[in-house]
Amino acid sequence: MIQKGIEIPKSKGKLGVLLPGLGAVSTTFVAGVHAVIKGLSKPIGSITEIGTIRLGKRTENRVLQIKDFVPLAKLKDLEFGGWDIFEDNAYEAALKAGVLNEDLLKQVREELEDLKPMKAVFSNDYVKLISGPNVKKGENKYDLAQQLIEDIQNFKEAKKVESMVMVWCASTEVYREPTHVHQSIETFEKGLKENSPDIAPSQIYAYAAISCNVPFANGAPNLTVDIPAMIDFANDKKVPIAGKDYKTGQTFMKTLLAPGIKARLLGLTGWFSTNILGNRDGEVLDDPESFKSKEVSKGGVLDQIFQVDKYPDLYSNVYHKIRINYYPPRGDSKEGWDNIDIFGWLGYPMQIKVNFLCRDSILAAPLVLDLARFMDLSQRVGMKGIQEWLSFYFKAPMCAPELYPENDIFIQLMKLKNTLRHLRGEELITHLGLEYYD
Ligand SMILES: NC(=O)c1ccc[n+]([C@@H]2O[C@H](COP(=O)([O-])OP(=O)(O)OC[C@H]3O[C@@H](n4cnc5c(N)ncnc54)[C@H](O)[C@@H]3O)[C@@H](O)[C@H]2O)c1
Repeated sequence: MIQKGIEIPKSKGKLGVLLPGLGAVSTTFVAGVHAVIKGLSKPIGSITEIGTIRLGKRTENRVLQIKDFVPLAKLKDLEFGGWDIFEDNAYEAALKAGVLNEDLLKQVREELEDLKPMKAVFSNDYVKLISGPNVKKGENKYDLAQQLIEDIQNFKEAKKVESMVMVWCASTEVYREPTHVHQSIETFEKGLKENSPDIAPSQIYAYAAISCNVPFANGAPNLTVDIPAMIDFANDKKVPIAGKDYKTGQTFMKTLLAPGIKARLLGLTGWFSTNILGNRDGEVLDDPESFKSKEVSKGGVLDQIFQVDKYPDLYSNVYHKIRINYYPPRGDSKEGWDNIDIFGWLGYPMQIKVNFLCRDSILAAPLVLDLARFMDLSQRVGMKGIQEWLSFYFKAPMCAPELYPENDIFIQLMKLKNTLRHLRGEELITHLGLEYYD
């Protein structure tokens, strides 16, 4: 375990944020950072920008801004790089994504136009419903990985960055279970050289990142780094990894509501979740195999929160159904409906209906910012491998193989803040509070 109260090295120089995928989420994130730097908008939703942390006892009145409590890269020190299968620069991509209005985009146009996508590593075996021209060619997957490594090194030199992180913002790949090739770094590298069909493009990016000592966070539900080969590789190279799938719209709501229902020991018979969305992500998820990745990452949340084995009378008969429907007129403004069938005292049934008209990328962008900064912090303090303390940001948080993931958003937030307190040698907050009444 990382020692308590270590000296945290300051963030020096610039932090390069490498983004596979210049689509709705990443352009909303990059445009947002520039808009905030220019004073055009506020960084709503970002813990690393506006979050606070209480230190010591409630009577001490010590509440600091998180960014003043731990040294994080400053917004003006972020440099962006990215890859996409389309040639559009970030300005053009942001216009097409249609998340931010044109007026705002025009004010950060120059900065966005500077962000031009490098050629992607891509395969229609993994993302079926889109294709584009800006794709690398290589002898085999190992060669493609070497090309990505070269991109990363060139970016470092060109932008003169001190450190880098990679945050996956590209399309959801099809659902795959780990195979033999994913079991160790040796079998994985052999698989790269032999062009194994089991190695996904996202895994080639992750391999390239870790090879260059660049932390990797996975914002999509793909398997990617959730395999022994990548976990071992990250530990050996002392590189932080985290995933997977940003916790934004419906699952965010689920992890707010489910702990509340469970806390009051109300029963549950069914939870039906459906969505309409019309962005490119929705188009990709129209493919049943990509949808399966999403279904699995969204689906695990309830099982863990409700602890079926401990509360069979309440949760052993739950029907959980998730639907995502591609509906172009809605663009990025997703609409989600949840029907939740619960029961209370003596088994009397009740219903909860949630209709969340959200904006997917508006919810995701601050998560990308926080992840980039916190992954960089992890690396500076020497935290390697799986970063469970960042579970707060994910639908299907990675954790050590012998553990179950923690999905309750309030526990996740406490875990995140206590990790920061631990790093700075501050007392952990347990909410015991008996000492106030002694
Ligand atoms: N928006 C959210 O709230 C949210 C929440 C959770 C997860 N996600 C995930 O984040 C990812 C991005 O979402 P989005 O809405 O920005 O999607 P998007 O379709 O707008 O952007 C994804 C971009 O990735 C590109 N791409 C696909 N494969 C690539 C590859 N191999 N290399 C480089 N580029 C590639 C596509 O061309 C596209 O421009 C998706 O996987 C999505 O499931 C999004």
